[in-house]
Amino acid sequence: MTSAILCLSSYFKGAAFLQACKEAGLHVILATNDRNKDEAWPHEYIDEFFHMPDLGKRPDITHAIAYLARSRQIDLIVALDDFDVETAAHLREHFRLPGMGDSLARNFRDKLAMRTTARNAGVLVPEFTGVFNYDDLREFMARVLPPWLLKPRSEASSMGIKKIEHADEIWPALESLGDQQSFFLMEQFVAGDVYHVDGLVDDGEVLFSMAHKYGKPPLSVYAGGGVFLTRSLDRESEEAKALVALNKQVLKAMGLVRGATHSEYIKSHADGQYYFLENAARVGGANIAECVDYASGVNLWREWARVEIAHLRGEKYQLPETHPGYAGIINCLAHQEWPDLSGYNDPEVVWRLNKKYHAGLIVSSPDAARVESLLNSFAERFANDFLAVLPPKQSFSEM
Ligand SMILES: Nc1ncnc2c1ncn2[C@@H]1O[C@H](COP(=O)(O)OP(=O)(O)O)[C@@H](O)[C@H]1O
Ligand SMILES: [Mg+2]
Repeated sequence: MTSAILCLSSYFKGAAFLQACKEAGLHVILATNDRNKDEAWPHEYIDEFFHMPDLGKRPDITHAIAYLARSRQIDLIVALDDFDVETAAHLREHFRLPGMGDSLARNFRDKLAMRTTARNAGVLVPEFTGVFNYDDLREFMARVLPPWLLKPRSEASSMGIKKIEHADEIWPALESLGDQQSFFLMEQFVAGDVYHVDGLVDDGEVLFSMAHKYGKPPLSVYAGGGVFLTRSLDRESEEAKALVALNKQVLKAMGLVRGATHSEYIKSHADGQYYFLENAARVGGANIAECVDYASGVNLWREWARVEIAHLRGEKYQLPETHPGYAGIINCLAHQEWPDLSGYNDPEVVWRLNKKYHAGLIVSSPDAARVESLLNSFAERFANDFLAVLPPKQSFSEM
Protein backbone atom coordinates (compact mmCIF):
# COMPACT_ATOMS: atom_id res chain seq x y z
CA MET A 1 0.00 0.00 0.00
CA THR A 2 1.16 3.55 -0.71
CA SER A 3 2.35 5.29 2.43
CA ALA A 4 1.04 8.76 3.12
CA ILE A 5 3.02 11.65 4.55
CA LEU A 6 1.41 14.73 6.04
CA CYS A 7 3.64 17.82 5.76
CA LEU A 8 2.80 20.85 7.89
CA SER A 9 4.25 24.13 6.68
CA SER A 10 3.30 27.51 8.10
CA TYR A 11 5.65 29.10 5.59
CA PHE A 12 6.13 28.65 1.89
CA LYS A 13 9.15 26.33 1.73
CA GLY A 14 10.34 22.77 1.31
CA ALA A 15 9.75 22.15 -2.42
CA ALA A 16 12.66 19.71 -2.64
CA PHE A 17 11.31 17.79 0.35
CA LEU A 18 7.88 17.41 -1.28
CA GLN A 19 9.46 16.43 -4.58
CA ALA A 20 11.59 13.72 -2.97
CA CYS A 21 8.53 12.28 -1.20
CA LYS A 22 6.46 12.22 -4.37
CA GLU A 23 9.27 10.71 -6.42
CA ALA A 24 9.71 7.98 -3.83
CA GLY A 25 6.06 7.05 -4.39
CA LEU A 26 4.49 8.48 -1.23
CA HIS A 27 1.05 10.01 -1.13
CA VAL A 28 1.91 13.63 -0.26
CA ILE A 29 -0.51 15.75 1.79
CA LEU A 30 0.45 19.35 2.45
CA ALA A 31 -1.25 21.61 4.98
CA THR A 32 -0.45 25.30 5.18
CA ASN A 33 -1.98 28.59 6.32
CA ASP A 34 -4.56 30.42 4.22
CA ARG A 35 -2.17 33.28 3.61
CA ASN A 36 0.27 30.96 1.82
CA LYS A 37 -2.26 29.24 -0.39
CA ASP A 38 -1.34 31.13 -3.55
CA GLU A 39 2.43 30.74 -3.22
CA ALA A 40 4.23 28.82 -5.95
CA TRP A 41 3.83 25.40 -4.30
CA PRO A 42 5.05 22.55 -6.51
CA HIS A 43 1.56 21.11 -6.99
CA GLU A 44 2.91 18.40 -9.27
CA TYR A 45 4.47 16.82 -6.16
CA ILE A 46 1.51 17.37 -3.85
CA ASP A 47 -1.40 14.93 -4.00
CA GLU A 48 -3.66 16.81 -1.63
CA PHE A 49 -3.33 20.46 -0.69
CA PHE A 50 -5.13 21.95 2.33
CA HIS A 51 -5.05 25.34 3.95
CA MET A 52 -6.63 26.72 7.08
CA PRO A 53 -6.62 30.05 8.95
CA ASP A 54 -4.00 29.04 11.52
CA LEU A 55 -2.17 25.75 11.26
CA GLY A 56 -0.94 26.00 14.83
CA LYS A 57 -4.33 26.55 16.46
CA ARG A 58 -5.63 23.78 18.67
CA PRO A 59 -7.94 21.95 18.75
CA ASP A 60 -8.77 23.08 15.19
CA ILE A 61 -5.74 21.39 13.63
CA THR A 62 -6.36 18.17 15.58
CA HIS A 63 -9.99 18.13 14.41
CA ALA A 64 -8.94 18.85 10.82
CA ILE A 65 -6.38 16.04 10.70
CA ALA A 66 -8.74 13.65 12.48
CA TYR A 67 -11.29 14.41 9.77
CA LEU A 68 -8.72 13.59 7.07
CA ALA A 69 -7.71 10.44 8.93
CA ARG A 70 -11.25 9.03 8.74
CA SER A 71 -10.66 8.18 5.10
CA ARG A 72 -6.87 8.14 4.89
CA GLN A 73 -4.08 6.19 6.51
CA ILE A 74 -1.49 8.76 7.58
CA ASP A 75 1.89 7.09 8.21
CA LEU A 76 4.14 10.02 8.91
CA ILE A 77 3.80 13.65 10.01
CA VAL A 78 6.61 16.10 9.28
CA ALA A 79 6.99 19.76 10.25
CA LEU A 80 8.67 21.74 7.49
CA ASP A 81 8.77 25.01 9.41
CA ASP A 82 9.90 25.80 12.93
CA PHE A 83 6.44 26.97 13.99
CA ASP A 84 5.02 23.56 13.03
CA VAL A 85 7.43 21.48 15.13
CA GLU A 86 5.22 21.51 18.23
CA THR A 87 2.02 21.03 16.25
CA ALA A 88 3.47 18.01 14.46
CA ALA A 89 4.68 16.57 17.77
CA HIS A 90 1.24 17.06 19.28
CA LEU A 91 -0.43 15.36 16.31
CA ARG A 92 2.00 12.42 16.45
CA GLU A 93 1.13 11.95 20.12
CA HIS A 94 -2.58 12.20 19.40
CA PHE A 95 -2.59 9.81 16.45
CA ARG A 96 0.01 7.54 18.08
CA LEU A 97 2.48 7.93 15.22
CA PRO A 98 6.26 7.46 15.46
CA GLY A 99 8.73 10.34 15.58
CA MET A 100 9.39 13.23 17.91
CA GLY A 101 6.71 13.70 20.58
CA ASP A 102 5.77 16.68 22.77
CA SER A 103 8.56 16.67 25.30
CA LEU A 104 11.37 15.99 22.82
CA ALA A 105 10.03 18.77 20.58
CA ARG A 106 10.59 21.18 23.48
CA ASN A 107 14.34 20.76 23.01
CA PHE A 108 14.01 22.25 19.54
CA ARG A 109 11.43 24.95 20.12
CA ASP A 110 11.70 26.13 23.70
CA LYS A 111 14.90 28.07 24.36
CA LEU A 112 14.60 27.47 28.09
CA ALA A 113 14.34 23.72 27.53
CA MET A 114 17.31 23.63 25.14
CA ARG A 115 19.45 25.69 27.51
CA THR A 116 18.67 23.36 30.40
CA THR A 117 19.25 20.17 28.39
CA ALA A 118 22.55 21.46 27.00
CA ARG A 119 23.81 22.59 30.40
CA ASN A 120 22.87 19.25 31.97
CA ALA A 121 24.96 17.55 29.28
CA GLY A 122 28.01 19.64 30.22
CA VAL A 123 27.78 22.01 27.25
CA LEU A 124 28.69 25.67 27.90
CA VAL A 125 25.65 27.94 27.67
CA PRO A 126 25.17 31.63 28.50
CA GLU A 127 24.05 32.01 32.12
CA PHE A 128 20.26 31.92 32.14
CA THR A 129 17.13 31.74 34.23
CA GLY A 130 13.43 31.17 33.64
CA VAL A 131 11.13 34.12 34.32
CA PHE A 132 9.07 32.49 37.06
CA ASN A 133 10.24 33.48 40.51
CA TYR A 134 11.27 37.09 41.23
CA ASP A 135 13.78 36.11 43.93
CA ASP A 136 15.48 33.89 41.36
CA LEU A 137 15.58 36.82 38.95
CA ARG A 138 17.12 39.09 41.60
CA GLU A 139 19.67 36.42 42.44
CA PHE A 140 20.49 36.03 38.72
CA MET A 141 20.99 39.79 38.24
CA ALA A 142 23.19 39.98 41.34
CA ARG A 143 25.34 37.06 40.18
CA VAL A 144 25.60 37.59 36.41
CA LEU A 145 27.05 40.73 34.88
CA PRO A 146 24.82 42.69 32.47
CA PRO A 147 23.84 43.17 29.74
CA TRP A 148 21.15 40.52 29.74
CA LEU A 149 18.65 39.50 27.12
CA LEU A 150 14.98 39.04 27.87
CA LYS A 151 14.06 36.60 25.16
CA PRO A 152 10.87 34.85 24.08
CA ARG A 153 11.21 31.09 24.59
CA SER A 154 9.71 30.18 21.21
CA GLU A 155 10.09 32.96 18.66
CA ALA A 156 12.41 33.26 15.66
CA SER A 157 14.27 35.92 13.70
CA SER A 158 15.37 37.78 16.85
CA MET A 159 11.76 38.86 17.30
CA GLY A 160 10.90 40.29 20.70
CA ILE A 161 14.44 40.07 22.16
CA LYS A 162 15.10 42.95 24.55
CA LYS A 163 18.53 43.92 25.79
CA ILE A 164 18.55 44.89 29.47
CA GLU A 165 21.49 46.93 30.72
CA HIS A 166 20.43 47.51 34.31
CA ALA A 167 18.38 45.69 36.97
CA ASP A 168 15.89 48.58 37.16
CA GLU A 169 14.88 48.02 33.55
CA ILE A 170 13.62 44.50 34.10
CA TRP A 171 10.54 45.28 36.20
CA PRO A 172 8.79 47.65 33.77
CA ALA A 173 9.65 45.22 30.96
CA LEU A 174 8.00 42.37 32.89
CA GLU A 175 5.07 44.60 33.80
CA SER A 176 4.41 45.30 30.15
CA LEU A 177 4.62 41.58 29.34
CA GLY A 178 2.00 40.78 31.96
CA ASP A 179 0.86 37.16 31.76
CA GLN A 180 3.24 36.56 28.86
CA GLN A 181 6.34 36.89 31.06
CA SER A 182 6.70 33.20 31.89
CA PHE A 183 7.06 32.58 28.15
CA PHE A 184 10.39 34.45 28.28
CA LEU A 185 13.82 33.65 29.65
CA MET A 186 16.63 35.90 30.85
CA GLU A 187 20.17 35.22 29.84
CA GLN A 188 23.57 36.77 29.82
CA PHE A 189 24.56 38.60 26.68
CA VAL A 190 27.75 36.90 25.49
CA ALA A 191 29.54 39.24 23.10
CA GLY A 192 31.11 37.24 20.32
CA ASP A 193 30.95 35.88 16.81
CA VAL A 194 27.91 33.80 15.89
CA TYR A 195 28.16 30.48 14.01
CA HIS A 196 25.71 27.90 12.77
CA VAL A 197 26.07 24.22 12.03
CA ASP A 198 23.59 22.64 9.62
CA GLY A 199 23.22 18.97 8.99
CA LEU A 200 21.38 15.70 8.93
CA VAL A 201 20.72 13.16 11.66
CA ASP A 202 19.67 9.54 11.32
CA ASP A 203 19.40 6.95 14.05
CA GLY A 204 20.55 9.54 16.58
CA GLU A 205 23.85 10.10 14.76
CA VAL A 206 24.98 13.19 12.83
CA LEU A 207 25.57 11.89 9.27
CA PHE A 208 26.52 15.16 7.71
CA SER A 209 27.22 18.65 8.97
CA MET A 210 28.80 21.91 7.89
CA ALA A 211 29.93 24.77 10.11
CA HIS A 212 29.30 28.37 9.07
CA LYS A 213 30.03 31.81 10.40
CA TYR A 214 27.63 34.74 10.22
CA GLY A 215 29.01 38.12 9.19
CA LYS A 216 27.60 40.31 11.91
CA PRO A 217 25.61 38.54 14.65
CA PRO A 218 21.97 38.17 13.47
CA LEU A 219 20.74 40.31 16.38
CA SER A 220 22.69 43.34 15.18
CA VAL A 221 21.56 42.79 11.58
CA TYR A 222 17.92 42.69 12.66
CA ALA A 223 18.13 45.44 15.24
CA GLY A 224 20.38 47.82 13.37
CA GLY A 225 19.43 46.92 9.83
CA GLY A 226 22.30 45.83 7.67
CA VAL A 227 23.70 43.27 5.34
CA PHE A 228 23.18 39.63 6.29
CA LEU A 229 26.07 37.37 5.51
CA THR A 230 27.05 33.80 6.26
CA ARG A 231 29.64 31.43 4.82
CA SER A 232 30.95 27.92 5.27
CA LEU A 233 34.14 27.57 7.30
CA ASP A 234 37.25 25.82 6.08
CA ARG A 235 36.71 22.20 7.17
CA GLU A 236 40.30 21.92 8.30
CA SER A 237 40.15 25.03 10.51
CA GLU A 238 40.21 24.67 14.29
CA GLU A 239 36.92 26.59 14.42
CA ALA A 240 35.10 24.22 12.08
CA LYS A 241 36.45 21.12 13.81
CA ALA A 242 35.50 22.42 17.25
CA LEU A 243 31.99 23.36 16.10
CA VAL A 244 31.31 20.09 14.31
CA ALA A 245 32.37 18.13 17.41
CA LEU A 246 30.36 20.35 19.77
CA ASN A 247 27.31 20.09 17.52
CA LYS A 248 27.46 16.28 17.72
CA GLN A 249 27.53 16.47 21.49
CA VAL A 250 24.62 18.93 21.55
CA LEU A 251 22.40 16.94 19.19
CA LYS A 252 23.04 13.75 21.14
CA ALA A 253 22.01 15.54 24.32
CA MET A 254 18.87 16.94 22.67
CA GLY A 255 17.87 13.44 21.66
CA LEU A 256 17.01 14.04 18.02
CA VAL A 257 16.52 10.71 16.29
CA ARG A 258 16.32 11.83 12.68
CA GLY A 259 15.89 14.90 10.54
CA ALA A 260 17.53 18.11 9.44
CA THR A 261 19.14 20.38 12.02
CA HIS A 262 20.19 24.01 12.32
CA SER A 263 22.11 24.90 15.49
CA GLU A 264 23.74 28.15 16.54
CA TYR A 265 26.77 28.90 18.71
CA ILE A 266 28.58 32.00 19.99
CA LYS A 267 32.35 32.17 20.30
CA SER A 268 32.84 34.52 23.21
CA HIS A 269 35.20 37.43 22.68
CA ALA A 270 35.99 37.36 26.40
CA ASP A 271 37.17 33.77 26.80
CA GLY A 272 37.32 32.31 23.27
CA GLN A 273 34.98 29.46 24.25
CA TYR A 274 31.95 28.26 22.27
CA TYR A 275 28.55 28.73 23.88
CA PHE A 276 25.45 26.90 22.70
CA LEU A 277 22.87 29.41 21.47
CA GLU A 278 19.95 27.54 19.96
CA ASN A 279 18.86 24.54 18.07
CA ALA A 280 16.19 23.70 15.48
CA ALA A 281 14.85 20.46 14.03
CA ARG A 282 14.53 21.80 10.52
CA VAL A 283 16.46 23.13 7.56
CA GLY A 284 18.03 26.55 8.22
CA GLY A 285 16.21 29.50 6.62
CA ALA A 286 17.64 32.47 4.73
CA ASN A 287 18.74 30.21 1.82
CA ILE A 288 21.20 28.28 3.97
CA ALA A 289 19.94 25.10 2.24
CA GLU A 290 21.01 26.42 -1.18
CA CYS A 291 24.34 27.47 0.28
CA VAL A 292 25.04 24.00 1.71
CA ASP A 293 23.96 22.45 -1.58
CA TYR A 294 26.40 24.56 -3.64
CA ALA A 295 29.18 23.89 -1.17
CA SER A 296 28.77 20.16 -0.69
CA GLY A 297 26.23 18.75 -3.14
CA VAL A 298 23.92 17.86 -0.24
CA ASN A 299 20.40 19.20 -0.61
CA LEU A 300 19.25 19.19 3.01
CA TRP A 301 15.55 19.23 2.10
CA ARG A 302 15.83 16.29 -0.26
CA GLU A 303 18.12 14.25 2.00
CA TRP A 304 15.91 14.89 5.03
CA ALA A 305 12.97 13.49 3.03
CA ARG A 306 15.08 10.48 2.04
CA VAL A 307 16.06 9.87 5.69
CA GLU A 308 12.37 9.87 6.67
CA ILE A 309 11.34 7.64 3.77
CA ALA A 310 14.14 5.12 4.40
CA HIS A 311 13.04 4.83 8.02
CA LEU A 312 9.39 4.44 7.05
CA ARG A 313 10.34 1.59 4.75
CA GLY A 314 12.77 -0.06 7.15
CA GLU A 315 15.67 0.63 4.78
CA LYS A 316 19.11 2.01 5.51
CA TYR A 317 19.64 5.61 4.44
CA GLN A 318 22.73 6.32 2.32
CA LEU A 319 24.19 9.81 2.16
CA PRO A 320 24.95 10.75 -1.48
CA GLU A 321 28.45 11.62 -2.68
CA THR A 322 29.52 14.97 -1.29
CA HIS A 323 32.16 17.38 -2.52
CA PRO A 324 34.42 19.50 -0.29
CA GLY A 325 33.49 22.98 -1.59
CA TYR A 326 32.46 26.20 0.11
CA ALA A 327 29.72 28.77 -0.30
CA GLY A 328 28.34 31.89 1.29
CA ILE A 329 25.22 34.01 1.17
CA ILE A 330 24.78 37.74 1.26
CA ASN A 331 21.46 39.55 1.34
CA CYS A 332 19.80 42.74 2.47
CA LEU A 333 16.64 44.76 2.13
CA ALA A 334 16.96 46.90 -0.98
CA HIS A 335 15.47 50.31 -1.65
CA GLN A 336 15.00 49.35 -5.31
CA GLU A 337 11.98 47.17 -6.16
CA TRP A 338 14.11 44.93 -8.41
CA PRO A 339 17.75 45.69 -7.60
CA ASP A 340 20.17 45.29 -10.48
CA LEU A 341 22.73 42.63 -9.58
CA SER A 342 24.25 42.42 -13.04
CA GLY A 343 27.46 44.10 -11.85
CA TYR A 344 28.07 41.13 -9.55
CA ASN A 345 29.30 38.87 -12.29
CA ASP A 346 32.28 37.03 -10.83
CA PRO A 347 32.24 33.38 -11.92
CA GLU A 348 31.75 32.35 -8.28
CA VAL A 349 28.28 33.96 -8.21
CA VAL A 350 26.07 30.89 -8.59
CA TRP A 351 22.62 32.05 -7.46
CA ARG A 352 20.65 35.27 -7.26
CA LEU A 353 17.70 36.05 -5.02
CA ASN A 354 14.55 36.85 -6.97
CA LYS A 355 12.45 38.80 -4.51
CA LYS A 356 11.04 42.33 -4.54
CA TYR A 357 12.97 44.86 -2.44
CA HIS A 358 15.68 42.32 -1.64
CA ALA A 359 19.19 41.92 -2.98
CA GLY A 360 20.91 38.62 -2.42
CA LEU A 361 23.28 36.14 -3.93
CA ILE A 362 25.30 33.03 -3.22
CA VAL A 363 28.94 32.58 -4.09
CA SER A 364 30.62 29.21 -4.27
CA SER A 365 34.24 28.12 -4.67
CA PRO A 366 36.50 25.18 -3.85
CA ASP A 367 38.46 27.71 -1.79
CA ALA A 368 36.99 28.90 1.54
CA ALA A 369 39.20 32.01 1.61
CA ARG A 370 37.95 33.07 -1.83
CA VAL A 371 34.33 32.85 -0.62
CA GLU A 372 35.21 34.95 2.39
CA SER A 373 37.03 37.68 0.50
CA LEU A 374 34.34 37.93 -2.20
CA LEU A 375 31.59 38.22 0.40
CA ASN A 376 33.48 40.88 2.32
CA SER A 377 33.91 43.00 -0.77
CA PHE A 378 30.24 42.44 -1.75
CA ALA A 379 29.11 43.49 1.71
CA GLU A 380 30.56 46.93 1.20
CA ARG A 381 29.14 47.19 -2.30
CA PHE A 382 25.68 46.00 -1.15
CA ALA A 383 25.66 48.71 1.53
CA ASN A 384 26.32 51.35 -1.15
CA ASP A 385 24.23 49.92 -3.98
CA PHE A 386 21.08 48.57 -2.32
CA LEU A 387 20.78 48.66 1.44
CA ALA A 388 17.49 49.95 2.82
CA VAL A 389 16.91 50.12 6.53
CA LEU A 390 13.53 49.29 8.03
CA PRO A 391 12.55 49.70 11.64
CA PRO A 392 13.36 46.60 13.69
CA LYS A 393 10.86 43.70 13.82
CA GLN A 394 10.12 43.87 10.12
CA SER A 395 12.71 41.19 9.70
CA PHE A 396 13.44 40.25 6.13
CA SER A 397 13.90 36.54 6.40
CA GLU A 398 13.88 33.94 9.08
CA MET A 399 17.08 32.39 10.08
N1 LIG B 1 23.01 35.14 25.02
C1 LIG B 1 23.30 35.84 23.93
N2 LIG B 1 24.42 36.58 23.84
C2 LIG B 1 24.72 37.33 22.75
N3 LIG B 1 23.94 37.38 21.67
C3 LIG B 1 22.80 36.66 21.68
C4 LIG B 1 22.42 35.85 22.79
N4 LIG B 1 21.25 35.27 22.53
C5 LIG B 1 20.91 35.70 21.30
N5 LIG B 1 21.83 36.52 20.78
C6 LIG B 1 21.77 37.21 19.48
O1 LIG B 1 20.42 37.25 19.05
C7 LIG B 1 20.24 36.47 17.88
C8 LIG B 1 18.91 35.74 17.95
O2 LIG B 1 18.87 34.92 19.10
P1 LIG B 1 18.45 33.40 19.01
O3 LIG B 1 18.47 32.85 20.38
O4 LIG B 1 19.28 32.72 17.98
O5 LIG B 1 16.93 33.52 18.55
P2 LIG B 1 16.18 33.42 17.15
O6 LIG B 1 15.32 32.24 17.30
O7 LIG B 1 15.42 34.68 17.07
O8 LIG B 1 17.23 33.25 16.07
C9 LIG B 1 21.46 35.58 17.82
O9 LIG B 1 21.78 35.20 16.52
C10 LIG B 1 22.54 36.46 18.41
O10 LIG B 1 23.00 37.40 17.46
MG1 LIG C 1 18.91 32.19 16.01
